[in-house]
Amino acid sequence: MKRLKLGIIGGGPGSWIGHVHRIASRFDDKYEIVAGVFSRNYKINQSFGTSIGIKKNRCYKNYKDLCYSEKKIKNGIDVVSIMTPPGSHQEIAELFIKNNIHVISDKPFAGSLPQAKKLYKTIKSNKKIVYGLTHNYSAYPMVRHAKKLVEDKKLGNIEYINVEYVQDWSNGKKVTPGSAKKIFKWKLDKKIAGVSTVLNEIGSHAYHLCNYITGLKGKSLFADIKQYSKKIKFDTNAQVFINYENGAKGLFWASTTAKGGVYGLRIRIFGSMGSLEWVQNDPNYLKYNAANGATKVLERGFNESGFSKNFSRIKYGHPEGYLSAFSNLYKEIASKINSKNSKKRFYFPTAYEGLLTARFIDGCVKSSFKKKWVAF
Ligand SMILES: NC(=O)c1ccc[n+]([C@@H]2O[C@H](COP(=O)([O-])OP(=O)(O)OC[C@H]3O[C@@H](n4cnc5c(N)ncnc54)[C@H](O)[C@@H]3O)[C@@H](O)[C@H]2O)c1
Repeated sequence: MKRLKLGIIGGGPGSWIGHVHRIASRFDDKYEIVAGVFSRNYKINQSFGTSIGIKKNRCYKNYKDLCYSEKKIKNGIDVVSIMTPPGSHQEIAELFIKNNIHVISDKPFAGSLPQAKKLYKTIKSNKKIVYGLTHNYSAYPMVRHAKKLVEDKKLGNIEYINVEYVQDWSNGKKVTPGSAKKIFKWKLDKKIAGVSTVLNEIGSHAYHLCNYITGLKGKSLFADIKQYSKKIKFDTNAQVFINYENGAKGLFWASTTAKGGVYGLRIRIFGSMGSLEWVQNDPNYLKYNAANGATKVLERGFNESGFSKNFSRIKYGHPEGYLSAFSNLYKEIASKINSKNSKKRFYFPTAYEGLLTARFIDGCVKSSFKKKWVAF
């Protein structure tokens, strides 16, 4: 398998997710980072790029410059990774897709539903490119195992899906209109953060996980979205009732103002034969409660959790987590790019999953505004 040449957009010094992508891309030696635009500021971009070993002439002024210049050179990039804020995902991804460069993008798929629809159309119109979306929680071994248990009907028919992703972005500090811009930065600005900050930033992960594990699509919803305060206006908390296509009921909560919330992503799925529970902070375990039996704690890579071994690198009993799950996505996308077998199944999140999540977010915003149930 050849090592893919990777370009990076975003993820400059001090960014949240930049180093995670860089580590994930190198974890299995499938990529080599050769070009980038790590910041809008050219000076920062050049000094950062060269500090991680990129040649000066391949630290570009902006993403357009990167795309057109890399297209012209021999051995230019095969794939680009996008880790800029949500509002720019669509326009950046589309340029690379149209230029036959594979795309890995961080979530959300796009900043809004109109952007998502446009991007989806462009992706579908170019069969030559691979597009992968880094909803990384879907790549944890025990999440993959949960998906397999649902597919194997071990839970029977899915009846209830309960997900929550609760955080506290203030870090316990008092937030005032004066300090808000410093603390939340672009997350206050809809043009950059997209249609709803809490839903695009963390709600997208939570809703995606429900679809990913159960394979079910939502049909209608009722949402109540809260703003930070009367003076600090951006979406910070969302509670949603969801009806799924098979009649299952969903309860969803995403919050960035839940004091003491520490990346608390928890999902519980109840079927006619039993239930599953997975918690991101303790990711090596999956709880399985049979309707007519005792609770089992399934451990990653151990005994009957054999399927999870396919997505794991470290022996059971040793903690494995966020970085290796993220790396699974990079590994799988590289494998798809290099694969000649069109029938092979891949597990990384797709553009279609991104579109479903954008529909959900759009529905939540409309429902909360109208105070009504909406179809989505
Ligand atoms: N998958 C995950 O677990 C996860 C976690 C955190 C963030 N994210 C996502 O990653 C994206 C970035 O979030 P973040 O928290 O790292 O943001 P951030 O503000 O910490 O970093 C953004 C970086 O992108 C750079 N940038 C912005 N616009 C650019 C442009 N047009 N060209 C080049 N560089 C540009 C900035 O200079 C900065 O270095 C968002 O979409 C966010 O939702 C995903």
